[in-house]
Amino acid sequence: MLSMVFELLTVSTLAVTCAAHWAPRPTPGPQHPAADHVTYTTVKGFFLQDEDTTVPATFDYTAQNFGLINRTYPTDNKCDRSFTQWQKFEHYVDTLNKRGGKNVDYKVLFLGRHGEGYHNVAESYYGTPAWNCYWSLLDGNGTSVWADAHITPNGVAQAEKAANYWASRITLQKIPLPESYYTSPLTRCLETASLTFSKLPLPRKQPFIPTVKEFFREGISGHTCDRRSSKTYIHNSFPTYKFERGFSEQDLLFEEDFAEQSIDQDIRSKIVLDDVFGSDENTWLSVTSHSGEIASLLRGKFSLHSSGEMGGMLIKDLVLGHQDFRLSTGAVIPVLVKAETIKGDAPVTSTVAWSSISTCSTVPPLPTAT
Ligand SMILES: *[C@@H]1O[C@H](CO)[C@@H](O)[C@H](O)[C@H]1NC(C)=O
Ligand SMILES: *[C@@H]1O[C@H](CO)[C@@H](O)[C@H](O)[C@H]1NC(C)=O
Repeated sequence: MLSMVFELLTVSTLAVTCAAHWAPRPTPGPQHPAADHVTYTTVKGFFLQDEDTTVPATFDYTAQNFGLINRTYPTDNKCDRSFTQWQKFEHYVDTLNKRGGKNVDYKVLFLGRHGEGYHNVAESYYGTPAWNCYWSLLDGNGTSVWADAHITPNGVAQAEKAANYWASRITLQKIPLPESYYTSPLTRCLETASLTFSKLPLPRKQPFIPTVKEFFREGISGHTCDRRSSKTYIHNSFPTYKFERGFSEQDLLFEEDFAEQSIDQDIRSKIVLDDVFGSDENTWLSVTSHSGEIASLLRGKFSLHSSGEMGGMLIKDLVLGHQDFRLSTGAVIPVLVKAETIKGDAPVTSTVAWSSISTCSTVPPLPTAT
């Protein structure tokens, strides 16, 4: 049962005792029976980004058909000779779903990172150590604001590049377009999703109406760029966007001076995947999120060594099991995901206390030019 799975540990050795500093409690999960759980795997062999030989840092999704590998599929004989690679892939995935049985579900996730935000610029300007210990805790520096950062003109250009690339794939490849859209509640993602999709020639039945989901937000680290704005602000700025059920008016998760742990982030990434897979019958989904959160969604085996009072925790295949793939700002990665419903409770995974972040008491010097 989910409630058992996320039972909190008592960690007596840590100074942090305030309940508010524990990782967020999950919202009720997907619609499969409580005694079952879902495992996710990245199905390899279809996208270059899944190949161990692909180098994320230099990979350009716009030079490579989003990374879709040129190959044949066992279902090609049912395809018209004029079909593009993406159309053949679409037919293959549809067939997988038709033949997969009721416990298996395939979806293709287009995971997009937001365009460059003012916080990205400030982190480069001040250098990561000074950013982490001092500047990131402030809303801005008087000339630049990075609390719930907006995207910069460069970030706008990156989102427009993504939009243009989608447009070219529509024309040249007849790419299957997202049937559902999801976004992080942070402003840089709300803006990026809008710039990427709102002007595309989308099918009437698949309009761009994203759902704002709390757990697609970035890892929460005490940095003001990880603190979201109110639901009212989001609604007023993006009136066509929908909110998931239970989305709170205020940000209830951000904690000044405390950082969510990777394991907690992976647990909530699993929760949001369960939520999406458990409630959305569509196959082609777009998610606009963040570098750290997409890395968490893609993470393979994550293990935390047993350490004294923390107890032994081993989380296997919690999320998608993809190779590490850090996206540059504005980049998109498609992933073919196989979800399997397994009888019985999931292996127990436990959240851990958020850690306090270390801060500098004085203004750190600017990095010296090298
Ligand atoms: C697939 O083949 C086409 C032409 O045959 C080529 O232009 C394209 O770069 C190839 N894509 C990949 C991902 O290898
Ligand atoms: C504030 O930070 C930006 C970079 O994010 C920098 O360009 C600007 O000069 C800084 N302003 C002040 C007053 O230091």
